[in-house]
Amino acid sequence: MGANKTIGFVPTMGALHSGHLSLIEQSKSECDYTVCSIFVNPTQFNNAEDFEKYPITTELDLKLLKEVGCDAVFLPTVEEMYSNNEKVEHFDFSPFDVSMEGSYRPGHFDGVGTIVGKLFETIEPDISFFGEKDFQQLKVIEKLVEIKNYSTKIVGCPIVREADGLAMSSRNKRLSDEHRKKAVFIYQVLKNAKKQAISHNVSEIKNWVIDAFSHEEEFELDYFEIASELDLQPTSSLNSEAKPRAFIAAYLGGVRLIDNLALNG
Ligand code: PAF
Repeated sequence: MGANKTIGFVPTMGALHSGHLSLIEQSKSECDYTVCSIFVNPTQFNNAEDFEKYPITTELDLKLLKEVGCDAVFLPTVEEMYSNNEKVEHFDFSPFDVSMEGSYRPGHFDGVGTIVGKLFETIEPDISFFGEKDFQQLKVIEKLVEIKNYSTKIVGCPIVREADGLAMSSRNKRLSDEHRKKAVFIYQVLKNAKKQAISHNVSEIKNWVIDAFSHEEEFELDYFEIASELDLQPTSSLNSEAKPRAFIAAYLGGVRLIDNLALNG
């Protein structure tokens, strides 16, 4: 690699969709070379079924990466990333890992931090790109960079949505046709929460969301939270300085979907 060339990095777990490809495009526009990793990281799954059923479409992924002009793909095995008896590293990502995914998926962010750290140390990127769909992950990674003093810059990229508004996700591939049509409800709830934020307070909005989900038998709400982007702690302030963002996680047909929306955006 030439001394002045920059490396952009897009870590993924494969089953690539336009959201991932937008990260590749962003990297290509900012860096000389773009590297994508595909690795379904076992240590970040707190649910064995979610891990077993995680979609794997490697051949198609490689075709898409070629089409979009990604320069290199890192496709390691579990043995390569985790040697015998290797433990997951424990991190203190507070305050970013305390609420929401942090409390509903115990150990998840330790697994994410462990693998992303290993990937940063292997690829040594100048800039790394993460989607805002996993907004909490993005903040955790920024904190990881601070803790470990990595030299990569972290860039967050906007959520890419399907035509009906459903946030793109590899897990959408696991939805039945019927559930796929229904899944947009999650985004509709977020949009409605944003509309309500003009004239209602946080507890009124939360009550409305819980009530809306209680009429949707096929959904099981994990959480709906309004948290400040600054620390990802629940907030009762809807002022723009608090940077309130609505976060949601819900099961539909056994598939866990997450989404988020800035309330003052
Ligand atoms: O967002 C993901 O796909 C994963 O959490 C990541 C960052 C690739 C780490 O395994």
